[in-house]
Amino acid sequence: MNRANIKLHVNGQPVERAVEPRLTLADFLRHELDLTGTHVGCEHGVCGACTVIVDGKAVRSCLLFAVQLDDKQVVTVEGLSNGSQLSPLQKAFQDNHAVQCGFCTSGMLTTAHAFLLEEPVPTAERVREVISGNICRCTGYVGIVDAILAASPHYRNPP
Ligand code: FES
Ligand code: FES
Repeated sequence: MNRANIKLHVNGQPVERAVEPRLTLADFLRHELDLTGTHVGCEHGVCGACTVIVDGKAVRSCLLFAVQLDDKQVVTVEGLSNGSQLSPLQKAFQDNHAVQCGFCTSGMLTTAHAFLLEEPVPTAERVREVISGNICRCTGYVGIVDAILAASPHYRNPP
């Protein structure tokens, strides 16, 4: 099958690859770049586990083809932290017991990060609305909502 060349940035690093036209962004990240923090659940846009940030917007990586990412800026869950140091949002998830099995967590974090960059003073109701597209089978969501609210002050005065 013919491959297409793409150039993009992933977590701030330039990436150049020749990809098959039907390779999803999720599979590109996981299998070509070894960024396995992006999880794949439903593979049809329902569960939110595969959420990454493209040009500042939270998107489902299972619904995009890698070839659509030419010239884009992609941030995955691996790009939220500074090496082994947890970001304030990740720390808030830890502190508020917002993680159980962890399968949904990377999608929750990327969704919440993109959201808080745009709306750093959210209400609990608004947080629930934003994460309503991310399915968690473990936590009951209370800890996740608490964590996102707890992290929100860190997004109010960016350096
Ligand atoms: S795997 Fe993409 S939304 Fe479920
Ligand atoms: S922590 Fe298990 S699915 Fe959310």
